[in-house]
Amino acid sequence: MHRRIIVPSALAASLTLAIPASAADFSPGAPGIGDSYYPASGNGGYDVSHYDLRLKYEPATDLLEGTATILATTKQNLSRFNLDLGLKVSEVRVNGRVAKFAASGAHELEVTPAVPLERNREISVVVRYAGKPSEFKVDGWSAWARTPDGGVAAQEPDSAVWWFPSNDHPLDKATFDVSVSVPAGHQAISNGVLQSQSTALGRTRFNWRSDKPQATYLATLAVGKFDITTDRTANGLPVLNAYSKDLGAHAGAARASIERTTEVAEWLETVFGPYPFNSLGGYVPNVTSGFALETQTRPFYSPRQFANGANVSVVVHELAHQWYGDSVSVRDWKDIWINEGFARYSQWLWSEKEGEGTAQELADYVYALRGADDPFWTVKPGDPGPENQFHGAVYDRGALALQALRNEIGDEDFFAILKGWPKQFAYGNARVADFVRYAERISGEPLAELFDTWLYEPSKPAAPAAAAAGP
Ligand code: ARG
Ligand code: ZN
Repeated sequence: MHRRIIVPSALAASLTLAIPASAADFSPGAPGIGDSYYPASGNGGYDVSHYDLRLKYEPATDLLEGTATILATTKQNLSRFNLDLGLKVSEVRVNGRVAKFAASGAHELEVTPAVPLERNREISVVVRYAGKPSEFKVDGWSAWARTPDGGVAAQEPDSAVWWFPSNDHPLDKATFDVSVSVPAGHQAISNGVLQSQSTALGRTRFNWRSDKPQATYLATLAVGKFDITTDRTANGLPVLNAYSKDLGAHAGAARASIERTTEVAEWLETVFGPYPFNSLGGYVPNVTSGFALETQTRPFYSPRQFANGANVSVVVHELAHQWYGDSVSVRDWKDIWINEGFARYSQWLWSEKEGEGTAQELADYVYALRGADDPFWTVKPGDPGPENQFHGAVYDRGALALQALRNEIGDEDFFAILKGWPKQFAYGNARVADFVRYAERISGEPLAELFDTWLYEPSKPAAPAAAAAGP
C-alpha cells in the first residue's frame, strides 16, 4: 500500500530522504506463498538466498538441537513475516536484534522484528530451536523416520518443517551449508559436497555444502551408521554413497544399483544435457518405508527398493529428477507432472537402451493394462489434486503423454526438447503450460489438443500413443 505524504514543495526535496516510513507503510508477509494445493506452504514477503544450519542430533533420544542462520531479501515493507517450522523455538534474532516470535497454525512461526524491515533489504534471521522431530505430527503423520541407529528427513512435498525453519516451497530455492554433530561412530549424511569432518570430545561433525539453488524439500538429513563409498566422475565431481550398516539381505542389491550412479548420470547427460550439480551419490538408511526421493545430488532410497535384487531403474528415476524436478522445479505443486512424467519416461528410455522393451512397447503395455472404466483414467496428470499428487497416473499416464508427443513431432524435435528444457529453465521454476509452450516453439506445431487429451481429460484417451510419425 502506498501512502501519500503532503509536504510544502519547498521542503519536499530536503525532506524526502529524511521522512521515516510510517507504520502504516509496513504490513505482515503472507503466511503462504500462494500454492494452489498447499496454501500454508512457504511464506510471502521475502526471498531466501542461503541457509546455514548448525545442528546436533542424539540418536538415542531423537533430540535435534540447532541454530539456523537464514539470509534473505525482503520483497515488501515488512512489519512481520513467517517461517515454516514444527520444532520448538527458543530465540529469534533479525539483523542481530532480538525479535518477538510466536507459533501459529500447524507449523508456522511468526517473527516480529524489533524494527520493521524495508523492502529490498538483505536481512539475516537467526533461529535457535530444538525438539524431537518424530514427535511433531501433521494430521497424525510424521515425515521424520527414526531408524534403529538414527533418523531421516526425506519426504515430499513436506520434510523441511521437521528439521529446519524455512520458506518451505520450491519457488524459493537457496544454497545450503549443513553442519551436523553426531556421536562418534555415527555419520550425518546430507546434500552436496562433504567439505570436512572432524572428531573431538566423542562427537563427529560433518560439514556439507550445496552451492547450487536447492528447494527446501530436496534438502535431506540422515543420521545413522553407514558404510560410505567415495569416488570421482570423469569430470572430477565427487561421488559419495552411503549404505546403512544393517541393510541385511538387501545390502548387495542396494550397492549393485547405487554404485552405478556415475554410469547412469553419464547416460542421462546424453539425453538431458550436462548434469546440473557439483556432486552425486545416493543413500540407503534403514527405514521401513518403501519409496525413493530425488533429494538433491544424493537421492534417498528405501531398502525395499532393492527387495528383488538390483534396481537400476529407480536410480535412473531419481537421477532424472536432478534435471527434471531439482534443477527445473515446479512453480506450484499442481505442476508435479513436469517432474514425475519425465522421471518415469526416462526409465522407459533406459529400458529401450538396455534392450528390455522400447518406450513405445511400454506405452502400449501401460495403455492396454487398464480398461476405460478404471478410475486410473480419472486422475488428470496436469492437475491431479493434492490427494493424487503421487498417483500412478501422474507417472504412467504422464509418460504416455510424452510418448504421444514423441510420436506427434518425431524423435529429432522430441529429444531436442528433452535436452533444451533443462537448459532453458535451469535452477528455476516452471509450469505445465510453460512446457506445452516450449514444445510448441521447438516443434513449430500446435500441441494444445494433444496435451489436453493426455494431461487434462478425466477419461481414457480414445487412441493409444501410436507410433504414427515414427521412422
Ligand atoms: N518424487 C518421489 C519419486 O521419486 C515420490 C515421493 C512420494 N512420496 C511418498 N511417500 N511415496 O517418485
Ligand atoms: Zn519421481
